[in-house]
Amino acid sequence: MDSKDTRIIIDCDTGIDDALAILYALRAPGVRVEAITTGFGNIGVQQAAENTLRLLALAQPDYDIPVAVGAAQALVREPGIYSPHVHGANGIGGVTLPPSNQQPVSETSAELIVRLADESPGELVLVTLGRLTNLALALELDPELPGKLQKVVVMGGTIYKPGNVTPVAEANIWGDPEAADRVFTAGFELLMVGLDVTLQTLIKGEHIAMLKRLGKAGNLPVIDFMEQTLQHYFRFYREANYVLDGAPLHDPLALMAALQPDLITTRRMKVRVEQQGEFTAGMVVADLRAQPKAGEYIEVAVDVDAERAVGAFLSVFI
Ligand code: RIB
Ligand code: CA
Repeated sequence: MDSKDTRIIIDCDTGIDDALAILYALRAPGVRVEAITTGFGNIGVQQAAENTLRLLALAQPDYDIPVAVGAAQALVREPGIYSPHVHGANGIGGVTLPPSNQQPVSETSAELIVRLADESPGELVLVTLGRLTNLALALELDPELPGKLQKVVVMGGTIYKPGNVTPVAEANIWGDPEAADRVFTAGFELLMVGLDVTLQTLIKGEHIAMLKRLGKAGNLPVIDFMEQTLQHYFRFYREANYVLDGAPLHDPLALMAALQPDLITTRRMKVRVEQQGEFTAGMVVADLRAQPKAGEYIEVAVDVDAERAVGAFLSVFI
């Protein structure tokens, strides 16, 4: 490890775009993945952990990365609600990856986050790509956690764009609004990378064709996997969003923003997460008044240099 490397923990619900984000993190220069903590979301938590272990076996990083199994359900909401229509029944578009020899660690995701933050106070960046349940549970274990993580980057929410599960709620916040509200108001140095910017950052079929032409020989298995898994994702985005031969890089953009903050423009705003509304649960409510009062300040990504972000993503595989 280089002493200048950004040390990150990835907390995810390993579906298709989570898988792309993990592969990016494993190939990007200047980053060391200290752990991957999994939770329910796109699929059940056991499947998320299994997908993660198999992805690591496919990508073969040259150092060990512990994988933890975390929350199986939201803090208070009904369990068992997943997104097979978006990510396929196994979360990775029905692609079967070879099994891994690696086992998950015995600590839960929340326990692992707390221990690693304790061992390296102020040094680690936590990037969350799924529900915020694991982080809310970690906060319960250690209320001092906000002072021990350098930064938390959250893929989730939306301020100016419509939601993707309800008219106003994005999936990662909608899936556990109580956890999201606790995290957003806990005092973390927190950057929210939501649909405002991820919907602008599209990977297209032509990009995959280019990777197949130009990708490093050692990356061809990973590129093949991306091509296969994205077929399912592209189909969903064509049917649901009229995106033709492409899909948003939701989770990869959050990861890239953690490593290269100049890809995005941010605005500081006070937010809360709606937990009661029949039509609005999971909405991130920003107080944009001249004198904001409701909620706590977080940083929100409001614009992105999408062309540069897509280029940054693709280039690590070439
Ligand atoms: O809304 C997009 C997010 O929901 C992504 O993290 C995707 O993987 C799903 O979890
Ligand atoms: Ca995700």
